[in-house]
Amino acid sequence: MQPSPEQITQALSRVIDPELRKPVTELGMVRGVEIEGHHAAVTIALTVPGCPLRHSFEEQVQRELTALPGIDSVSLAFDVMSPEEKAALTTRLRGGISQRTKGISLDRSTRVIAIASGKGGVGKSTLSANLAAAFATLGHRTGVLDADVYGHSIPHMLGVHQRPVVVDRMIVPPVRNELKLMSIGFFLDDNAPVMWRGPMLHKALEQFLSDVHWGELDTLLVDMPPGTGDVSISLGQLLPRAEAVVVTTPQPAAQQVAVRAAQMAEKTNMRLVGAVENMSYLVGSGDELFGAGGGEALAREIGVPLLAQVPLDPALREAADRGEPLVWEQPEAEVSRAIRDLAEAIARTQREEGLGITKPLPLAGART
Ligand SMILES: Nc1ncnc2c1ncn2[C@@H]1O[C@H](COP(=O)(O)OP(=O)(O)OP(=O)(O)O)[C@@H](O)[C@H]1O
Ligand SMILES: [Mg+2]
Repeated sequence: MQPSPEQITQALSRVIDPELRKPVTELGMVRGVEIEGHHAAVTIALTVPGCPLRHSFEEQVQRELTALPGIDSVSLAFDVMSPEEKAALTTRLRGGISQRTKGISLDRSTRVIAIASGKGGVGKSTLSANLAAAFATLGHRTGVLDADVYGHSIPHMLGVHQRPVVVDRMIVPPVRNELKLMSIGFFLDDNAPVMWRGPMLHKALEQFLSDVHWGELDTLLVDMPPGTGDVSISLGQLLPRAEAVVVTTPQPAAQQVAVRAAQMAEKTNMRLVGAVENMSYLVGSGDELFGAGGGEALAREIGVPLLAQVPLDPALREAADRGEPLVWEQPEAEVSRAIRDLAEAIARTQREEGLGITKPLPLAGART
């Protein structure tokens, strides 16, 4: 008995491109299928030669086709799409719109959460990476955008080593589990920091953001560069509807941080949804190494809730250095739980908005 052409097509429609998240049949990637006796020989056209995710295709094609009646061995060969095929694919993925849009192309329903701070070294990148992992665990379709042009650390923290695939001007974010990642750092060469100043900056950011194909996302986390410089302002304009979570440490210098956070929100047009205190106390001993009260004071000052107090845990840094979000590696660790609670608290702020209990922008009362 041999499977029918319909059965083969149906089986292949369960083979999903891990980055584009769509069936290979829908993406026009199936070049050919030949059945000889009990053997199926499949050819798939990839977007780039040497695609790092070949093994995922191999595993899926093997699994889906050997499940068919009469097939007990499968071989898979790869080909590469022609420029015309790539152009057609890009158009299809953009929903028939072949024109490029200005700024980020995201669904209206995608929530953009910027992780920001008044100063450097407070743990923005660590929290962005682990929050993204936490949102993915909660079942959100999650992306993380490393927008810190001065030091892009997220790819390393998430252990993503493959570079984005570029298909006919469309940049496809690499994935780790269910998480999509894009870093401006992927496109910087050593001299690039120059580009991030002056008039080229906005153009470059705009082009970069509009070329990234995020697909369908519930939540996009953005690791912001510190401060209120040109990059932040451009990002604010190019990430419309973004909301900001402000990270601080427990030192009671909240007022200064608050002023900067409020300025940042005002200049970038972001709604502040909450504050987070990071490094609040040392796990285990509970020692308040960096003082206390900073998070509370900041939240009060800018008129938003304090969403979480995240403890200091050396394991968080060690895991990040190894490219493992601790939230995945040790989900029961106290700091992992705190970050998961933070993700839930952020998700709840959306629900409140849906019920019409939105907070007014706190900017009016913020001192500048
Ligand atoms: N809760 C925590 N427990 C232990 N270590 C932490 C914690 N939060 C951050 N760190 C560590 O503190 C250092 C600074 O964190 P991170 O790089 O995330 O800060 P940042 O705000 O992104 O800094 P920058 O402004 O330089 O981008 C890192 O070594 C990180 O591993
Ligand atoms: Mg950082």
